[in-house]
Amino acid sequence: MNAQDLISKLTAPAQVEPDSGIVNVAMYGFTRPGMIAFWSGEGNLPTPEAFYRPVVESFIKGETFYTHQRGIPELRQALADYHTRHYGRAFDPDNFLATGGGMQAIQNAIQMIASDGDEIIIPTPAWPNYAGPLRLQGSRPVEVPMHFANGAWALDLERLFAAVTPRTKAICINSPSNPLGWSASKADLTAIRDFARKHGIWILGDEVYSRFYFGKDGAARAPSFLDICDTEEQLILCNTFSKNWAMTGWRQGWLQAPKALAPVIERFIQYNTSGSPVFLQRGCAAALNEGDAFVDQQVATARRNRDIVVEELRKHRQIRFQVPDGAFYLFFAIDGMTDSLATARRIVDEANVGFAPGAAFGAAGEGFLRMCYLKEETKLREGLARFSGWLETHLPS
Ligand SMILES: Cc1ncc(COP(=O)(O)O)c(C=O)c1O
Repeated sequence: MNAQDLISKLTAPAQVEPDSGIVNVAMYGFTRPGMIAFWSGEGNLPTPEAFYRPVVESFIKGETFYTHQRGIPELRQALADYHTRHYGRAFDPDNFLATGGGMQAIQNAIQMIASDGDEIIIPTPAWPNYAGPLRLQGSRPVEVPMHFANGAWALDLERLFAAVTPRTKAICINSPSNPLGWSASKADLTAIRDFARKHGIWILGDEVYSRFYFGKDGAARAPSFLDICDTEEQLILCNTFSKNWAMTGWRQGWLQAPKALAPVIERFIQYNTSGSPVFLQRGCAAALNEGDAFVDQQVATARRNRDIVVEELRKHRQIRFQVPDGAFYLFFAIDGMTDSLATARRIVDEANVGFAPGAAFGAAGEGFLRMCYLKEETKLREGLARFSGWLETHLPS
């Protein structure tokens, strides 16, 4: 059979799901000599030794067997302790389950709450990895565009709530946001909580960047659903070791959910990965228990880099953006740009710099590019200089 015939035997969603626009540009540019890539959502540091040393020791001890599907008790206790430290109240290990990355946490959560034809509401521009798996399982991501005006993104709550239908199962909120660098206020989160409670729908929270917060209130982390919700209500939070602790390649994350769901989630894990490798979980526990100083250092770098990027891009009249108050992305518009994918590829060709196209984050992202700025400072400055040069040559202001 040829490729087309084979593909025609797949499910309808599998046949039509497009590739992620981020991957499209990355594949286009990643082999170029000297490329400075800002397209992927990760920092430049490798995992610190304090977090991988326990992995090596675990191997040496022969911890290479099947393990607890919910996660080893040491890890779930470390998750509870970490949350107790950072969210100012007591958390219970029974609310946490280890997953294969934040992505598997999201996958399990949406499989649990939405089936064929069900809807999940997503403010956009949003990271594409909620909508993709929803479409693949025959559910419907419902995009609610946020509004960009006067250098700020705004979430229109009336519009968000008006998108609810009898098929709505959840509202998905990613704050601080990838790609926007925008963070929801406590008032936003409270209004969403009240609405979800009233309508009996789930809140699917993604707060993986909560520690990367530079809000004017000076708080050490972003406002969270954990500040205002009970752990046993209709709230599921997906999280990951990837960003805080420089562990993107480890593929380790966690789900935080009401205790009553733990046996259900365990079944999903059974039929998916059947559990995370115990040796990696040992390293994850070390990151949680010993990694606060490292995270603080990462956040300080992100803040410094944000200021460098903002200062440089402000020099160009054709560029518009919100000064990020969270995460480690800058989402900027270039006046007159109508095809962000074509432009991102052009910048690869002409400046040897890589950005992610805004259209990858939903229709509301067209006209924008996303830059991940958690990079080594010399590379960051060099990439910005090349991009500035490209702007001046191609789009004189
Ligand atoms: C908003 C958001 N949530 C979740 C994740 C998942 O992270 P991972 O699958 O690497 O653990 C990412 C990664 O880019 C992200 O940006």
